Formats: sequence, C-alpha cells, structure tokens
Amino acid sequence: MTSHRKTLCVGLVCVDIINIVHHFPTEDSDTRCLDCLWQRGGNASNTSSIIALLGEPSEFMGTLGDSKEIHFLQEDFANYGICTDNCVGCRECCCPLSIVILNSLNGSRTILHTNKNLPELTLEDFSKIDLNTYKWIHFEARPSCDEIKKMLQRIDEYNKGTDHILHTSVELEKPERPQANILFDMAEYVFVSKQYAMQFSCNTMTDAVQCLFEKCRPGASIICAWGELGAAAMNNQIGVVTCPAFPPEKVVDTLGAGDTFVGGTIYALGKGLDLKKSITFGCKVAGAKCGLMGNKHIKNIKLHV
Ligand code: ADP
Ligand code: FRU
Repeated sequence: MTSHRKTLCVGLVCVDIINIVHHFPTEDSDTRCLDCLWQRGGNASNTSSIIALLGEPSEFMGTLGDSKEIHFLQEDFANYGICTDNCVGCRECCCPLSIVILNSLNGSRTILHTNKNLPELTLEDFSKIDLNTYKWIHFEARPSCDEIKKMLQRIDEYNKGTDHILHTSVELEKPERPQANILFDMAEYVFVSKQYAMQFSCNTMTDAVQCLFEKCRPGASIICAWGELGAAAMNNQIGVVTCPAFPPEKVVDTLGAGDTFVGGTIYALGKGLDLKKSITFGCKVAGAKCGLMGNKHIKNIKLHV
C-alpha cells in the first residue's frame, strides 16, 4: 500500500492558449504568430503533470468549471494518467484561461490570466478525501489562504495519529497575494518564488532562504528557485545549500518552469534524497523542460535521481 500512495497537488487548473511569436509584439500592432496551441496549465496542475511524467502516482484536486474547455482539460489529465476523482465540479462557472505570449527569441512567457467566476476549493471539499491514500500533499497558495491553512491544519491532526507521516508542501508564488504569508509555518517544505521573496527585499536566492527561513515552522525546509541562476534551500540539518541551473542549448519555453522545478524537487524528496540533491534534480528537470515546448519530453529524458 505504502508504495502506491499518491502525491496530490491542490490548486488551479486552467487552459493556456499559447501564441508563439517571432518577437515580442508592440502595443496596438497586428502580429502573425508562428504557432498557437492549447495546453493544460495552472501551477498545481502543471506540478501534478511533472510528478506523473516522472512515474509517480499523481492526483490533482481543485475546482472545475463547466464551460466547454473542461473537456479538453479532463482529456489531458487522463492522457497524463493523473487522477481527478476528487475535483469539485462547479455549475455555470467558466474554466479559467490564460493567453500566453511565448517569445521564440528567448523562451520568455507573458501571461494574461482571466478567472471569471470559478470558486476556490473549501475545507469542506478537502475534508471528504481519504488522507490514507496519499504520501505527499502539495498546495499552491490561492487567494483562499485561510481555507488552505485549515486544510494543512487537518493534515497536522492526521499526522498526530499515524506512524505514516503525510508530507506537506506549499508554494508561495504570486507577490500580489501577500495573504499567503500565513502559510509560511504551515508545511514541511515551503517553496517561495523569486518574485515572492523580492517583496521582502531579498536580492539573492541565499538571502531569500536565510531571511524567510525564520517564518517557517521548526524542522521545515525552505526552497527558492531563482530563474537562470538555479535554486537555494535551507533547513536546520544542512544549513543553506544552492545549485546552479542546467541551461538547455536553446531556451525555447519557460512557461511553467517554476512548477516543473517544484514537481521535480518533490519527486526527489519523496524518493528520500537530501535537500541539495533534490533541488539539483528539480533544476535539472526544469532546465530540460525549458529546452523544448511543453513538458511531455520529460518522460523520455534520462535523469538520475
Ligand atoms: P517561474 O517559472 O516560477 O518564474 P523560475 O524562473 O524561478 O520560475 O525558474 C524555476 C527553475 O527553472 C529555476 O530554478 C531553473 O532551474 C529553471 N529555469 C528557469 N529559467 C531557466 C533558464 N533560462 N535556463 C535554465 N533553467 C531555467
Ligand atoms: C505557469 C502557470 C500557467 C498559468 C498561470 C496561472 O506557472 O501555471 O500554466 O496560465 O501560471 O497563473
């Protein structure tokens, strides 16, 4: 049973409509794109994809709209072998949608995101799931941070009554959501983005983990990815560790690089690797992802944990 326990990612799924451009457009211009494609996106959804591609049982939980895009999203989850049994369907709600401008010159991604009316997952929804079936639960900090805090408290309660500790992680990514600060001391692993850390006047990745570590709970680890410079992490056992990025020959697509890093790092931590080896693995997977469009190729690359 233990080995078949799933990794659950809780958060957003949306449609990414990706327009690949020759160069970044100027305002009020009329641009012919090189290509246009649909992808399943959203941080937690992307992270669940990476975990599945690396070969671990993966589940996504979030709310789902019932607009026409839902068929695309559900089919894509199924293609990746990601369980969505505990998702909550919301009637008369639109699937969130991002228009992404992907610049073929440098792989940069510019995101225009719209979420019209999709409600967030509640504690009541989360309380229906059987925690015994998971080995790890990862949360993306959504606007509903109070509710996410209660979900993490529920896992704390569960962990008090079991020998099999359910691992937890949370990703604080969007600086426009300062309410996510209440989640710093709620998980075993805290992923903070560069943009989130910069609000605290942290100018380097080592600064970031050193400064934000004190906000985490005792025994926790903090992890911070820093774009093309790689990532840093810190806990009490090994102090600060860093690793460089693994740049591909050409950077083609950085959409979801951070979510890929999170997925790769969780996968490696779940295999029992130490913090440094785990962020190194996360950077390798994210670097490989940046070298090609999308993430499906991750399944075929030889990455030694
Ligand atoms: P986000 O997608 O959230 O902005 P980052 O830009 O911090 O995330 O990137 C996350 C990870 O992806 C980095 O730690 C790095 O390992 C990898 N990465 C990002 N950009 C590049 C790049 N240009 N070359 C190589 N690796 C990259
Ligand atoms: C990438 C991503 C996209 C999505 C957007 C939502 O990190 O999850 O897939 O459109 O961010 O903010």
